[in-house]
Amino acid sequence: MPSHSHRGRFITFEGLDGCGKSTQLERLAAALRKHGCHVVETREPGGTATGDKIRKLLLDTGTSDLSSLAELALMFASRAQHIKEVVQPALAEGRVVLCDRFTDSTEAYQGGGRKLGSEPVLALHHILCSDLQPDLTILMDSDVAHSVERARRRNSRTAGSSRGKPDENRFEQESRAFFGRVRQAYLAIAVREPDRVAVVDARGTPAETHARILEVVRRRLKLAARTA
Ligand SMILES: Nc1ncnc2c1ncn2[C@@H]1O[C@H](COP(=O)(O)OP(=O)(O)OP(=O)(O)O)[C@@H](O)[C@H]1O
Ligand SMILES: [Mg+2]
Repeated sequence: MPSHSHRGRFITFEGLDGCGKSTQLERLAAALRKHGCHVVETREPGGTATGDKIRKLLLDTGTSDLSSLAELALMFASRAQHIKEVVQPALAEGRVVLCDRFTDSTEAYQGGGRKLGSEPVLALHHILCSDLQPDLTILMDSDVAHSVERARRRNSRTAGSSRGKPDENRFEQESRAFFGRVRQAYLAIAVREPDRVAVVDARGTPAETHARILEVVRRRLKLAARTA
């Protein structure tokens, strides 16, 4: 199995739509910078110019009748570009890369939600991503109805705003059963790979969740160690 040798640290954020990934990624980035870390914040799908075009296609509600396999392939097309252009160079420079969603999202949404199973996702990760593994994955666990409702509320606030935010609601229109399968698939990954994946309770306030995440990052990666 080819392995990537890198000097930096690769941390991914995972969880259902609206569980608070972007909010917490930003807070962790700020905390790590305060401790002198060189942090790169990025996201999937997207993170590159080409990836952002793929993101628009994937998340826009105007994209109809996309087959599950085409969806899977597009997720990995964006990821392969992102690894080559952003993630690997940053890790090679010793940076801490914080990424909003990575292959676990594909295993949870396309594998679990769309019922394609884990096998094709892991096979594509092997072929297209050389099996690049995060040093740590924060899986933010939350209540299905609650987080999806939050994401929808957030999107309805931004939709049609004069700031021209992109329409990224395609997945959020899925059923509760779909998100139930996504959550179960995420939890199964955490059971399979406990050394990589830390499940964090995301049902508290943003400050409570941030404290939990910081503790996990300190304990597992020895980053942002308490100085006093
Ligand atoms: N702990 C929290 N309690 C209450 N509201 C929160 C909390 N964390 C985030 N929010 C709010 O919930 C909404 C969704 O949060 P955020 O965008 O961080 O989630 P996300 O996981 O990145 O969602 P998506 O997968 O859709 O990008 C935002 O409006 C955010 O301000
Ligand atoms: Mg987000």
